[in-house]
Amino acid sequence: APALAGVDPSKMIIQRTQTPKELMKEEDLVFGRTFTDHMLSIEWVAGKGWSEPRITPYQNLSLDPATCVFHYGFSCFEGMKAYRTESGELRLFRPRKNMDRLSLSSARIALPSFDPDAMVECISKYVALEEKFVPKKRGYSLYLRPTMIGTQRTLGVGPPGSALFFVIASPVGPYYPSGFKAVSLEATSKFVRAWPGGTGDKKLGGNYAPCILPQQEAAKRGFHQNLWLFGEEGYVTEVGTMNLFTCWVNKEGVKEMVTAPLDGTILEGVTRDSILALAKEHLGKEGWKITERKYTIKEVADAADEGRLLEAFGAGTAAVVSPVRRIAWDGGANGVQRDINVPLPEGKEAGPIAERVWKWMEGIQYGDIKSDWSYPVKA
Ligand code: COI
Repeated sequence: APALAGVDPSKMIIQRTQTPKELMKEEDLVFGRTFTDHMLSIEWVAGKGWSEPRITPYQNLSLDPATCVFHYGFSCFEGMKAYRTESGELRLFRPRKNMDRLSLSSARIALPSFDPDAMVECISKYVALEEKFVPKKRGYSLYLRPTMIGTQRTLGVGPPGSALFFVIASPVGPYYPSGFKAVSLEATSKFVRAWPGGTGDKKLGGNYAPCILPQQEAAKRGFHQNLWLFGEEGYVTEVGTMNLFTCWVNKEGVKEMVTAPLDGTILEGVTRDSILALAKEHLGKEGWKITERKYTIKEVADAADEGRLLEAFGAGTAAVVSPVRRIAWDGGANGVQRDINVPLPEGKEAGPIAERVWKWMEGIQYGDIKSDWSYPVKA
C-alpha cells in the first residue's frame, strides 16, 4: 500500500482575500461573533491521508445534507488563543497541548490522527497571516477554533471515510457578556454532563449542546452557568465552559487549592494544567497544598458555613480566570437547598488568589515573562 500523506506545512497554499474586513474596536467585540479574513483547511481521505493545507478567504462550507457530521455528531474542536506582546510579537500559549488533545478527541470518534507539531506549524502560519486581527489590549486576544468533522456522505453509521480539519479565528475579549465580573453558578443533580466511560474528557461538539437546556433554566433563576456534579455524593466536576478551582482552609487547618481529578469525566484543560503547575511553584512556597482530588459540593457548602471557604474560580481558554461569587445547590437526594456565598473582597470582582493566578497566566501569555509555554508565531 502507498504511504499515507501526513500534514505538511511546507505545502501550504495561500489564497488571499480580495475584500479585507474592517477591524472592530476592542470594546465592541462579542465573544465568537466576528471572524478574520481567512480560514485554514486540510482535507483527509481514508487510504490517501492529508491533502496540502490551504489558507483561503473565510467562507461557507458546502456539504451534502447526508454528510455524517450532521447526523451522528462527528465533530471535535479546540479552543486556543494568540496574544500580542508589548513589543508587538505574536505568541501562542502551549499550542502542542491543544493539538495533542484534539488528536485524542478525534481518535475517540473515529476521525483521523495527525502529527501535532505539523498542525501547530500550520496554525502558526495562519495566525501570522491574520496578524492585524490580534488585539493589542490586555485581556483581549485572537481566539482560534481548530475543528475536525467527518465529511463522508452517508447515513450508514460507521467510521467516516473522509474528514475536514479547519481553523477559524475570532478577535475576543471576555467570554461572559458580564465582562470581567465574578459569575454565579447553579449546581444541580437533575442533569449530568459526563459519566465514567463516557466522553466528558474529550472536546466533542456533542458534549456541549445537551448543556444548553439546563443553562437556560439556570439563567431564568439568574445564574450564568451550571456547576456539574456527579453521583449521589455530589462530587464537584466542572462548569462545562471551564474547570473549577476551590480555595479553602481544609479540615486540617491547611490552606488548599483543590480541583477535580482527571478521572475521565473532566475536560483536560490546558489552563487547568498550567494553573496547577504555577500554583505549586508559587503558592507551594507559602504553605498551600495544591491538590487534584474528588470533593463534594457539601464540603464546599460546609466550608462556607464554617468560614473556611476562601475563593472559587473557573479557568479555561475562553473564560481565562473567572471568579465565582455564588453557587446555589438544590441539595441533591435530601433536597435541602444550600446557597454558597463565595467571599469576595469589598467592592472587588476577584479574590487575591484568583487575581494572582490571572497575573501569572497573563504574564506568560502576553510574553512579559519568559517561558517555554509561550510559542512565537512564525510565518
Ligand atoms: C474554551 O475555553 O476555549 C472552550 O472551548 C470553552 C467554550 C467556549 C466551549
